[in-house]
Amino acid sequence: MPEEKSWYESGFDTDYPLMQTFEESITELQALSVELLLNLGSGARVLDLCCGYGRHSQVWRENGLDPVGFDLSADLLAIARRNQPRGKWARGDVRRLPFPSGSFDAVTYMFISFGYFGTAAQDLEALREAGRVLAPGGRLYLDIKHPANLRANPVPDLSFRLKESDVTETSRIVQTPDGERYEIRRTLQHPGQPLRRYFYSVRLYEPDDISALAEKAGFRDVRLYGGYDARALSPEEPRIIVTGQKTK
Ligand SMILES: C[S@@+](CC[C@H](N)C(=O)[O-])C[C@H]1O[C@@H](n2cnc3c(N)ncnc32)[C@H](O)[C@@H]1O
Repeated sequence: MPEEKSWYESGFDTDYPLMQTFEESITELQALSVELLLNLGSGARVLDLCCGYGRHSQVWRENGLDPVGFDLSADLLAIARRNQPRGKWARGDVRRLPFPSGSFDAVTYMFISFGYFGTAAQDLEALREAGRVLAPGGRLYLDIKHPANLRANPVPDLSFRLKESDVTETSRIVQTPDGERYEIRRTLQHPGQPLRRYFYSVRLYEPDDISALAEKAGFRDVRLYGGYDARALSPEEPRIIVTGQKTK
């Protein structure tokens, strides 16, 4: 019998960009946050892990950095290649990166792309692999959800129209034997087509737990912020931004 696909292998197809609920203008701010917090200059080699259709890599390239976008989704990489034919793109799983050790100055997981695996041990494996491809002194940037904020501000059910199509979204926090996760279910109804269902599930890391995981993976000087502008970490803020440095 064929093995069942993990949700993250099927959840990010050509429909994914259609269902985004953020403003595109945030992309520049997010990309700039990485440049400033990681102190990246012109020519810095950035590995944009889980790059999707490459929106951050595009800004970094325009700003003179040297990004490589890496993702599992063939559909999203096809969009990236179409939009940015001169970009560098590669496909695969973040736990086994096809790059030699020490190839990058920075590795990023932008916009809640970390914590997808079924166990925290696999998340650790992914962070260690990120550390392997960093040059000594290279830097890490993670952008994840703040669980306390999510608990205090549950996202209401959404239902909206996109051109001719209808989208619904429901989300909740669930307890699993291996910790707390945030799950989102979406439906997409294109006119005259069968209803499409999407599911997303991300492990929620408390601030202390994500720091400990990064340190266990070999990062030092691990710092946590409450937003892209490096504001203080707080349960009032929806994000935890994590930075760290590969041990020299
Ligand atoms: C929430 S999207 C974010 C995309 C992009 N960082 C952005 O901000 O637009 C998460 C991305 O992670 C990718 N992904 C999920 N699991 C992956 C894995 N194991 N290895 C590589 N990419 C993965 C998905 O294909 C998807 O493009």
